Order: sequence, then structure tokens, then C-alpha cells
Amino acid sequence: MSSRATLISPSLLACDFTRIGEEVRAVEAAGADWLHVDVMDGHYVPNLTLGPPIVKAVHGVAKRPLDVHLMVTNPLELAEAYAKAGADTLTFHWEVADGIAGAREIIQGFRDVGIRSVGLAVDGGTPVEPIAELLGSVDLVLIMSIQAGFGGQSFQEHQLDKVRWVRAQGFQGHLEMDGGIGPANAHLCREAGADVLVAGTAVYKAPDMAQAIRAIRGDAPSPKSSQTRSVEAPQS
Ligand code: DX5
Ligand code: ZN
Repeated sequence: MSSRATLISPSLLACDFTRIGEEVRAVEAAGADWLHVDVMDGHYVPNLTLGPPIVKAVHGVAKRPLDVHLMVTNPLELAEAYAKAGADTLTFHWEVADGIAGAREIIQGFRDVGIRSVGLAVDGGTPVEPIAELLGSVDLVLIMSIQAGFGGQSFQEHQLDKVRWVRAQGFQGHLEMDGGIGPANAHLCREAGADVLVAGTAVYKAPDMAQAIRAIRGDAPSPKSSQTRSVEAPQS
């Protein structure tokens, strides 16, 4: 079990985009530690989501750090725009890097545009061991508990092995999990060593967001009432 404080990073992908400012304030008032911003480019993943102008607008109302998850094929080219828009943590996918050297180039490029917290993500279908050499160069590792692309998918328990592996290498940075996380499985993530939990559907579709965040963090039990409203959550 991790002795670190657990940080909750609700995914704005599940919020009501017609009221994004209010949704940011509401989730912060409910106890969010970070705000998870899912950037999808229609290439690395089929979905297309939030560009820099929206991230800048979110940054204008947010009090909490922006945890920007780039699901894009060209993170290096986009880094400056997202840094300027207000990204605090900027995470790219190992799958789009051209091996270790390519990943190192992206990490340096992120730092060159002023990103102080660089994240490296490993997607659901990708083994984690190849990133071993990079663990000393990043501030955060993001282990996907689904295949990236859409909100509202089911948590894949076998992805927990990757989290355990990263901690077993002695990684001391933030270890984030993302996809299908809610009160029913968050304890598995925490016990495996994750200290940042992303939750979209389980927070924004909860009847009580504050209660859902407490339950995911482990500060409250997870009664049935804290589960999402519908079993068949719509894909965002
Ligand atoms: C999926 C995104 C996730 C997702 C989380 O590609 O990276 O952040 O929106 O949403 P839920 O919690 O609904 O799975
Ligand atoms: Zn994400």
C-alpha cells in the first residue's frame, strides 16, 4: 500500500461542455486535487477533443493544476501551445515516441517550453518494461487502465501489474492510473502503488461529486449511492 497522499484528477471529458467553467468550479469545490484534460487528436485515437483555446479558458477559471493528457501523434509539435495554455503536467504516450531516443527528445522538448512536470503514458495494450530507462527522466508515469480513446469504459484489472512493476523499479514520482476508475476499484489502484487517480464518469455522473471523490480517495466508504447513475455509461 502506498503511503503517499492520493490525488484525484477528475477528467473534464465527462463534464457538461456547455457549462465548462461551472463544471470546473464544481469539481474543485467537491475536492478535486488536479483537473485532468484529455487531448485527443483523431489520429492516435479516433476521438477528437480539446484544443489549446479551451485549455486556456479552463486555466482562466481553474484554481487547481491542469493535468494535460496528450493522446496525439505529435506531442513535441503541440507542447508549446499547451504549455502556453496553462498545462502544469504534460503527458505524452510512449506509443508515439520513436523508442528511447525519441522519448528523450520529447521529454527535453517539453522542458524547453517550460513544463516542470513531464508525464509518460503507457496505453492498455502496451507492455511497460520498455520504459525502464526513462523512469529517471520523468516526473509522472500514467498507466492506462483501458485502451485510450473514450471515457466510460470498463476498468481492466490486469493493468495493475504495470503499476506494481513501475513502483518495483523504485520510481518515486507520481504514478497515475486512468480509465474506468471509481469507488469500486480505486482501492486496487492505491494498493498497487498509484497516487494519482483519474476519474471522469465516476465523478461527473455521480449524484454527489464530493462523496464520489472522497470514496475514490479512500476517505469514505463506497456505498451503492456513490456509484455512477447508469450502468451503461455513455461514451464521451
Ligand atoms: C480516455 C481518457 C480518460 C477517460 C477517463 O482515453 O484518457 O481520461 O476520459 O474517463 P472514465 O473515468 O469515464 O473512464
Ligand atoms: Zn486521460
